[in-house]
Order: sequence, then structure tokens, then C-alpha cells
Amino acid sequence: MKVGFGSDHAGVELKLTLMEYLKEKGYECVDYGNYDANDRNDDYPVYGRKTAEAVMRGEVDKGVVICGTGVGISLAANKVPGIRCCVCSEPYSARMSVEHNNANMLSMGARVIGRELAKTIVDAFFGATFEGGRHARRVEMITDIEETYSKNPVD
Ligand code: RB5
Repeated sequence: MKVGFGSDHAGVELKLTLMEYLKEKGYECVDYGNYDANDRNDDYPVYGRKTAEAVMRGEVDKGVVICGTGVGISLAANKVPGIRCCVCSEPYSARMSVEHNNANMLSMGARVIGRELAKTIVDAFFGATFEGGRHARRVEMITDIEETYSKNPVD
């Protein structure tokens, strides 16, 4: 499995920790920036977008994004078509985001959770499988919303 990682300055340290953690487990990890924790003028949408575009294009199988809260970078990632990026602060939601929502990206807040909790969240996310069935219908309904508004933008 190939995983794309992105973060703003607030998430650089946690991102590097998690990349190392997943590499040890045999995952291939690609870093889409930011590479500098001291660059406080960077903008989280840049890295949310880059990572999400890599997932959309199939360069990587899944994405993990991190900012201070996990919120801003997930909002940016979710604007890329086909992306379902969920902010998780505990493992149960991370597992369900895949089993029920077929999430292809995970977002976390480096100022919200600690390193060890983040590892359990990553384990839950990557250990889960989409259940399909009735959940597939609901995920398709989300895609329908995306397609409706990309074809017919509201004036
Ligand atoms: C940066 O200070 C902070 O706003 C950002 O990391 C993130 O938390 C935004 O949602």
C-alpha cells in the first residue's frame, strides 16, 4: 500500500513520526509537504490539495493529512473530486470512516491528539475494509451531490 502524507507546519512533526511508523510496517510513504515545521506562513490548503490530488490520480492508494486541528486541511482535501477525508481524534471513528463511509483520506489534528493516540488511529484506519452493501448506496449519494454541483454550479 502506498500512502500520501501532507501537512502544514503544525503537522510536520506528527507526519514524520507516522510516516516512520507506517514504513516500519511495510507501507510505502510519499511526503507532499510542507517539509519545514518552522515555516509558519505556509497554508494548509496547499498540502491538503496536493495530497488529495495524488489520491485522486491514483499516485497513492490513500492519504493522511495533518494540520493543527485536522479541520482546515480536511476541508481543502474534500474539495477534490472523489475524496472522502475524515477528521478523527480516536480509533473508532477512523475504523468506521472506512467501513461505512469508504474514506480514502484520514485527517488528524497535531494540536489535538498525541503521538501514541495518532498511531492507534492510523492502525484503525488502515486495518479497516469498506463493508459495501447499504453503505455503498449512501456513499454513492454523497458522490451524486458532488457531481450535481460540479455540473450545475449554483449561481
Ligand atoms: C495554523 O496555525 C492552523 O490554523 C492550522 O494548522 C489548522 O489548524 C487549520 O485548520
